[in-house]
Amino acid sequence: MSSDIQIPENLSDEEKYIELNKTASVFFAEADPLITQMSNFAALLKQSFEKISWVGFYLYNGERLILGPFQGKVACTAIALGKGVCGTAAVTKETQVVPNVHEFPGHIACDSGSNSEIVIPILTGTGLFGVLDLDSYKFNAFDDTDKKYLEELMRQFAELVSGSDTRKLY
Ligand code: SME
Repeated sequence: MSSDIQIPENLSDEEKYIELNKTASVFFAEADPLITQMSNFAALLKQSFEKISWVGFYLYNGERLILGPFQGKVACTAIALGKGVCGTAAVTKETQVVPNVHEFPGHIACDSGSNSEIVIPILTGTGLFGVLDLDSYKFNAFDDTDKKYLEELMRQFAELVSGSDTRKLY
């Protein structure tokens, strides 16, 4: 996989997601372990959208959410189910779009500069695998376009986790 993938800055968010989906489909099709897929996927998102201050995975270990591959500042290492935006997405199994994190009850501020957030649950045939978390220093950075495409991307990723060619974590 080439390391010089760059999605043009002048595209709309929707156009960026369409391009990004093509690239992600290529690396999801490669036989790399899940930790490799998640690492490059986080990098691909971070380098494609200036609005993203932090993007990464929290993985469910059967008890709580544990920090996985990410791009951005040092972050909280563990999140209890039901806590914060990530823990809420994990329990409700619904994407959480938060235009202003300061108004979200129990929001966990890993980076005090963060103002909005979206968290997508990753659900496999056997249940919760983890969540994908994106933060922004902008208010209201994420909308239905982000929700639609990120959910689709996480559906594709979940197939790697639970599909016929079940991948190892590393
Ligand atoms: N804000 C998240 C915690 C994780 S950090 O944003 C990286 C939350 O409330 O769950």
